[in-house]
Amino acid sequence: MQTTFRLNGKTVHVTAEPTRTLLDWLREDRGLTGTKEGCNEGDCGACTVMVTDPAGQARALNACILFLPQLEGKSVRTVEGLAGPDGTLHPVQQAMIDHHGSQCGFCTPGFVMSMAVAHLDGKTDHDDQLAGNLCRCTGYAPIVRAAEAAASEPVPDWLAQAPDFTCPEVSSGGRADGARGADSPPEGQRPDASKEAEVARPTSSDALATWYASHPDATLVAGATDVGLWVTKGLRDLGPLAFLGHCNDLRDISVGEDEIRIGAMATMEEFRDAVAPLHPSLGELLRRFASRQVRNAATLGGNIANGSPIGDAPPALIALGASLHLRKGDARRRLPLEAFFLDYGKQDRAPGEFVEAISIPRQPDTLRCYKLSKRFDQDISAVCGCFNLPIENGVIAGPRVAFGGMAATPKRAAHVEAAMDGKPLSEATVEAALPAFAQDFTPISDMRASAEYRLTVAQNMLRRCLAETSGHATSVLELRP
Ligand SMILES: Cc1cc2nc3c(=O)[nH]c(=O)nc-3n(C[C@H](O)[C@H](O)[C@H](O)COP(=O)(O)OP(=O)(O)OC[C@H]3O[C@@H](n4cnc5c(N)ncnc54)[C@H](O)[C@@H]3O)c2cc1C
Ligand code: FES
Ligand code: FES
Repeated sequence: MQTTFRLNGKTVHVTAEPTRTLLDWLREDRGLTGTKEGCNEGDCGACTVMVTDPAGQARALNACILFLPQLEGKSVRTVEGLAGPDGTLHPVQQAMIDHHGSQCGFCTPGFVMSMAVAHLDGKTDHDDQLAGNLCRCTGYAPIVRAAEAAASEPVPDWLAQAPDFTCPEVSSGGRADGARGADSPPEGQRPDASKEAEVARPTSSDALATWYASHPDATLVAGATDVGLWVTKGLRDLGPLAFLGHCNDLRDISVGEDEIRIGAMATMEEFRDAVAPLHPSLGELLRRFASRQVRNAATLGGNIANGSPIGDAPPALIALGASLHLRKGDARRRLPLEAFFLDYGKQDRAPGEFVEAISIPRQPDTLRCYKLSKRFDQDISAVCGCFNLPIENGVIAGPRVAFGGMAATPKRAAHVEAAMDGKPLSEATVEAALPAFAQDFTPISDMRASAEYRLTVAQNMLRRCLAETSGHATSVLELRP
């Protein structure tokens, strides 16, 4: 498949296998080895690059789980392209030197790319911005000091003006598909033409619906933060593929009077921006969803469609009474989100059917979300508990409690809900509801947590919910001596 994008200000036309990652291509085909390979699975940030979309929005992304076709029409800046044309260092590069932010240096290109994007956006929550970058030797204090120092410096002209950060050949529709550029492999190494026909890059949900109906066994690629690992770690051949990144109508987010509708292709970062003002506890949960780089790529649709029992969005959405919009060809249906998850690895989704959107009913905010993971940042949940406990006339009215990590699917705690419904939110109610957890869940032991620990943690999350609603600070970020 051919992809046209800008690389450090120059247009490139690349013809490659559709699952070739940007990282491999940069290092192996372009000799741009400044972008490092650490984990090759989105965890360490050593491969962070700046990717700017045609609207001019720059994002930090992990190149190791970014397939080349996802870059169509975008601009990529690697660490080799961060300094000015005359070699003047970017302020974050200079600050890393001044504040001794680098020892072995392996992590440094990834850090400076994350820092440069944050600097461009004027973000100063440095811990969050850098949560997806791991450093094994310097320690974070000098790196954060460098980010703080650079924050007061202006965005350099070569980035602020950045006339090269658009890809006119594609955004104007001027590029002829099939045109070969300097980066095309020689004839014998070009991808098989029959395979090429099985890869699609639809530009609307209608086009996707038509294509997917005739290729029902195809793999849909949204942000590729799961699918990328099937390739880099699972070494899987994915067969027919559709890249959904250009279905712009699937990105729409609308906050109406009755419901919030989030398109399946909204990224987790966009979802977070939309819901955090309405449901701050969900916003806080999503702050701890992976890292900035992963949230910039990962989509809400992917987080649901993958059917994971430990995905973070489903328990919160189920507690909010969200519905899922599915589409197959021209047929659409809507179902409560909890009904989508049938069993481990099994969802109520027919071949050729895709997730179009998620709707959350507007409601006063009574949601509390708790994520327990081995590491505070950038880690998958061992248990994720979400409690929506509306109070009417002094009693809990229609509670919705949902958990991830406690069963083979994200699941409601029906017995716990029944034990609390119509009762005051009090210590007596909570203590009386605790045994019901064992009726709702028979968790498993795995590398993240034992079954006993999971059950205890789930119960403690309800206790914590009570403590928090009673005005006690319970977050490790809020507790003060
Ligand atoms: C380092 C790292 C950290 C992570 N941390 C977390 C975390 O803290 N919490 C968490 O919940 N997850 C986490 N994840 C998992 C992952 O990021 C999420 O599940 C993400 O939301 C998947 O979305 P995606 O767009 O990348 O999906 P993709 O990888 O593109 O697709 C995932 C699956 O969904 C299917 N799919 C995608 N979109 C649709 C659609 N519209 N309709 C039908 N099927 C579709 C794909 O075919 C595929 O089967 C992490 C992943 C990584 C690599
Ligand atoms: S190499 Fe670790 S995130 Fe890409
Ligand atoms: S300086 Fe060595 S890993 Fe960060």
